[in-house]
Amino acid sequence: MGNELRIGVFGAWRGRTYMKALKYIEGARVTAVCEKKGSRIEKAKADVGEDCAFYTDFDEFTASGKFDAVILANYFNEHADYAIKALERGIHVFSETMAASTLADCVRLCRTVERTGLVYMMAENYPYTRGCLEMKRLYETGTLGEVRFAEGEYEHPMSPDENRKYMNPQDNGDFHWRRYLPVTYYSSHSLAPLMYMTGLTPKRVIGKAVLDTPAHAKEYERLRSDIAGIMLVEMDNGALFRISGSSYLAPHENWYRLSCIDGGTELIRGHKEKLVRLAYNSWAVPEGCEEEKIYEAVFERNAEEASHCGHAGSDYFVTRAFVEAVRDGKPFFPDVYQATAMSATAIMGWRSVLEDSRQLDIPDFRKESDRALYENDTLTPFPAEGKPNSLPYSTVPVEELLGKDRGNEN
Ligand SMILES: NC(=O)c1ccc[n+]([C@@H]2O[C@H](COP(=O)([O-])OP(=O)(O)OC[C@H]3O[C@@H](n4cnc5c(N)ncnc54)[C@H](O)[C@@H]3O)[C@@H](O)[C@H]2O)c1
Repeated sequence: MGNELRIGVFGAWRGRTYMKALKYIEGARVTAVCEKKGSRIEKAKADVGEDCAFYTDFDEFTASGKFDAVILANYFNEHADYAIKALERGIHVFSETMAASTLADCVRLCRTVERTGLVYMMAENYPYTRGCLEMKRLYETGTLGEVRFAEGEYEHPMSPDENRKYMNPQDNGDFHWRRYLPVTYYSSHSLAPLMYMTGLTPKRVIGKAVLDTPAHAKEYERLRSDIAGIMLVEMDNGALFRISGSSYLAPHENWYRLSCIDGGTELIRGHKEKLVRLAYNSWAVPEGCEEEKIYEAVFERNAEEASHCGHAGSDYFVTRAFVEAVRDGKPFFPDVYQATAMSATAIMGWRSVLEDSRQLDIPDFRKESDRALYENDTLTPFPAEGKPNSLPYSTVPVEELLGKDRGNEN
């Protein structure tokens, strides 16, 4: 790589993962951090060099001229606003999941990326796990035939204590995104790997939410009544993908499967995205291949560096992909169209849930005609100071669910 890339990190919680990963990526360095919480700033100081500048205000941070690219690891529902501000200042953007929480923001984001000509990449790490990279390699050999069905699961249960952290007013308490997150909204961890493996784009979606039990909802003091979100997504080749949004069900796991005409590949559950199964129909086994095998996938390069980084090494590879996109002009995934297609799947998936699972089209933000339809669609489930949510974040009000519980007790 040529010149050193200077990077700013916004949000020093998840953001610390990138500070650590960048220590192992040659030719890129964290030169500034923006974080409003003192305790997190102190912790982050251990991850960066002494010359790194610290800010608490995003405008001062981006006006400092201290970096060429920014990593957005701030609140889930606020990424698009900050991405647009950074791009307008000539700064390349690597944005945490998801890209945008309204359709209007998807449109604004695509237009800003096109106008500025800068790199915008979503920091979606699961496609870069060793198992998913191997499944992509297998699919691209062409021996499995065309994919017609696929599954992607993101199961992320939290302990009552972990959940309670987000009730703390010190942590954006009243408005922390985890309190209001509709169960289809956090779906890039399940959809992105499948899109990366197959190169397909989502076109239509049907959503359904799984209701929590009253006793569990009460224990967690959640505002939402739902515990998982499931979507059936039709892709642009007609294949059907079943994906989950955030699911609070056990066990904690990410899992993927491609089911194709001549064979299939999937991860073996319980092995942290490492063990892969490959199997062909007995009449379609390619010459020199076994009909079925289960094996450990390996990273083709930089395995040692990746072993020091989070999410089984995927945090290393996704960060490296961004650095190489900015520095060397290499192609990358997901770009702004792929990232906003995932946001739109999540948003339309939720609207489908709210409309009794009606099938809805997913806008194609490459097309100006679709942008015109949604450029003013600012409906959001996330409330903010002085701004109530304009969409429900729960299928039934949680009081209604708890009322059922009280009913059961009597
Ligand atoms: N890809 C992954 O595997 C993965 C894992 C964890 C989190 N995430 C994503 O990372 C993002 C952040 O999540 P998190 O777990 O770090 O928790 P979080 O959302 O609670 O933390 C955000 C951090 O940003 C800071 N921040 C937010 N707005 C700020 C502002 N205006 N000025 C200064 N500081 C500000 C907060 O103080 C906090 O430290 C979310 O979008 C989440 O989805 C992704």
